[in-house]
Amino acid sequence: MTKTYISDLSKLVGQEVELQGWLYNKRSSGKIRFLILRDGTGIAQCVLVKNNLSEEVFNTFDALTQESSFKVKGVVKQSDKAPGGFELELSDCTIISVAQEYPITPKEHGVEFLADRRHLWVRSSRQHAILRIRHTIIHAIREYFDSRGFILFDAPIFTPAACEGTSTLFETDYFELGKAYLTQSGQLYGEAGAMAFGKVYVFGPTFRAEKSKTRRHLTEFWMVEPEVAFNDLNDNMDLAEDFLEFIVQSVLKNNMEDLKTIERNISKLENVKKPFPRISYHEATEILKRKGIPFDYGNDFGAPDETAISEDYDRPLIVHRYPSAVKAFYMKRDPQDETKALAMDILAPEGYGEIVGGSQREDDYDVLLARIKEHELPQEAFDWYLDLRRYGSVPHSGFGLGVERTVAWICGIEHVRETIPFARMIYRITP
Ligand code: 4AD
Ligand code: MG
Repeated sequence: MTKTYISDLSKLVGQEVELQGWLYNKRSSGKIRFLILRDGTGIAQCVLVKNNLSEEVFNTFDALTQESSFKVKGVVKQSDKAPGGFELELSDCTIISVAQEYPITPKEHGVEFLADRRHLWVRSSRQHAILRIRHTIIHAIREYFDSRGFILFDAPIFTPAACEGTSTLFETDYFELGKAYLTQSGQLYGEAGAMAFGKVYVFGPTFRAEKSKTRRHLTEFWMVEPEVAFNDLNDNMDLAEDFLEFIVQSVLKNNMEDLKTIERNISKLENVKKPFPRISYHEATEILKRKGIPFDYGNDFGAPDETAISEDYDRPLIVHRYPSAVKAFYMKRDPQDETKALAMDILAPEGYGEIVGGSQREDDYDVLLARIKEHELPQEAFDWYLDLRRYGSVPHSGFGLGVERTVAWICGIEHVRETIPFARMIYRITP
């Protein structure tokens, strides 16, 4: 007897196997009854034939409610008609636990109703598909960097100061040392890593106390941040574009079934090939002007601006050289135009907006110190960061990719709340 998973059934046709899982659905037709079992790896049709089974086993059908857990034994048969493609003619069926009336039914539920039951909602086929794609994306991120000589360089979550601006810091008491802040980005630590190892990536959860209630904002999200010594802005854009192509191709290679489940238009993903178009901030504002969208030159783009700028492109669009006034203190200014930063954002197609933000970093000690003062940041907290410019400073660059926005775009779904098992937003911290 082999205990196995539904995903392995194709290799076990003709053999007797044991499966365990939960009841997805059931139906009966005369002397034959069908239990649809899901075990997390797929669904399989289990057939109860009255004449071949004891009454006790045959009657488990009546007791099993949606999401009850149970265990079956039977011989595997290929069946095009069966949901999942395989069928087990059961020789045994044992109930593990009968579920109470399950709140999530095949009828339509409101999003708040489902979000309140997120711990159960993650059992549904659509959520499965999305979270499996998330899994592939995270795997692809690690594979990309691991196979190219990058060292994983973990950054702390408790930090003494802001990285991306003080207005979105989560604060907490930290023993005798006063206040600590949840990290907004591991980048500053990644820079220390790049000076130690040449190329590193930081990958972990990050926190922003954003007052934004949009479909793109979480208060806790995962970000991957490569940082490379001796890379300039162009090298940084080359890396980001190659990396994004790799991620999308990995999903196309591994998740065709999932993409079908969520009815994603695959051709939009197949377009995601290098080279990506690159335009300057200035050129992006020209697009807005041409489209008659009111915009004050020098501001950052809002979500509707990003959509308007990127909607005519069939692949991610790189926008570079933003006004330094709207960007972080650590970005190096463009020597050709001091009002601009050597920054770049990547805007996903189909209106998904910014998924990557990055830059070349200021590598001059005096200039960086002046910026820290200009931004009224606490200098003591950045003394270690200034050390990186005191001891063998070199040009270097990096970027951050937000995992949830990337999953939302690749899946073609409306809101980031479905892209992570338990989304954290300003108005939701449960379950
Ligand atoms: O553009 P951001 O703020 O860049 C940084 O944090 C840099 N330190 C990264 C670096 O250069 N190492 O954030 C990077 C990305 C965004 O492009 C977006 O994908 C995601 O992080 N992001 C969010 N995702 C979900 N919810 C939020 N509130 C997000 N804020 C940023
Ligand atoms: Mg940004």
